Amino acid sequence: MNILILGGGGREHALAWAVMQNPKCDKLIVAPGNAGIAKIAECARLDIEDGEKVVDFCNVMSIDFVIIGPEAPLAAGVADALGEAGILTFGPSQAAARLEASKSFTKEVCDAAKAPTAAYARFTEADPAKAYIRAQGAPIVVKADGLAAGKGVIVAMTEDEALSAIDDMFGGEFGAAGAEVVIEEFMTGEEGSLFVLSDGETLLPIGTAQDHKRVGDGDTGPNTGGMGAYSPAPVLTDAVVQKAMDEIVAPTMRVMAERGMPYKGVLYAGLMVENGQPRLVEYNVRFGDPECQVLMMRLGAQALDLMIACAEGKLAGRQAHWADDHAMTVVMAAKGYPGAYDKGSVIKGLDQIEATSKQMVFHAGTREVDGQITASGGRVLNITARGETLAEARDRAYAMIEGIDWPEGFNRSDIGWRAL
Ligand code: AMP
Ligand code: GLY
Repeated sequence: MNILILGGGGREHALAWAVMQNPKCDKLIVAPGNAGIAKIAECARLDIEDGEKVVDFCNVMSIDFVIIGPEAPLAAGVADALGEAGILTFGPSQAAARLEASKSFTKEVCDAAKAPTAAYARFTEADPAKAYIRAQGAPIVVKADGLAAGKGVIVAMTEDEALSAIDDMFGGEFGAAGAEVVIEEFMTGEEGSLFVLSDGETLLPIGTAQDHKRVGDGDTGPNTGGMGAYSPAPVLTDAVVQKAMDEIVAPTMRVMAERGMPYKGVLYAGLMVENGQPRLVEYNVRFGDPECQVLMMRLGAQALDLMIACAEGKLAGRQAHWADDHAMTVVMAAKGYPGAYDKGSVIKGLDQIEATSKQMVFHAGTREVDGQITASGGRVLNITARGETLAEARDRAYAMIEGIDWPEGFNRSDIGWRAL
């Protein structure tokens, strides 16, 4: 099978790594890929948000199966274009991708599904939004409706913070994504992420993870795309996962099917758990990054079989086979991230780190320049390890970091603290 993965971050390196271990894969191309991916697969330049160009590329390269990593091509309808061209694709349609692309759509679907989530109201003008905030009081959560690269959510601990978030959003800080605003009740509890495959009819949970969104140790400082993750998430016990499937995921999927937009692909349910009761924080229509890295480390080659079965509508009767193991990934980022940072610094020592089924360095933002690996993004490397216990996975990951010589980079030193 000739396979194309769209994307070029740590998530896609982990997907490529899992796919390459499966003998079904004859040839793998990743677009655009990165310096780490280039060591295991062919990388191609391609406008991955243009469905027509992706279809043409697949025809020229005889691609049999496409895995769409990030949300942007999904929201742009690339899965629809591939589907119409008869190319087997892992990733939801543009209509179904609204579960991530529009927060007000998601809230409305949750209402129809009676899925437990935060109480909310939606606004297209500042004055009524502010009146609502004054009436509700703080803490309160203000969200831009559309895709805002993870920055469109303000968890406001004071009323003033919430009011100024309204000004920012309607003032255009998030562009079209902020034309509509959702204001939510502040939920307390512990967060965890549940990953579920859906082929439009059958649902298959494929693992849990927890990430660290704040940049600094002790969960301090500004929010990031994620500074580390581990799997499984202790807060998502079997009982909590069952409740989340029965009360949140399955009813949402039913509503999507009833509305003529069956969901096909991986659904990432961000959950807030309090006293054993999960509530939905948000859906994403793709694997999380860096959560995917720990899931792939644990699933290995079977990930490809499961994604193909999902895309073919043949999930019924399938199972994910888990070893009783744990995985952790620690993100190394360029100093300054998530604010301004420099690109181009040289990273040394990566060649000395052995790549095995127990430990892998996934590249997130790297480029090879004159034979050297250089940083080309904010989040740059994902140091990923597996162990019989989470402590063993952590020790292995941090030992790998010892061998990396990159003075311009940094990482959190406490990934997994909540679970350890
Ligand atoms: P999102 O981009 O929707 O994942 O939101 C980013 C983060 O904001 C989440 O991971 C939560 O930590 C937090 N958050 C979002 N909505 C709420 C809520 N209603 N109550 C408390 N925290 C929230
Ligand atoms: N790590 C969070 C996300 O992928 O959205």
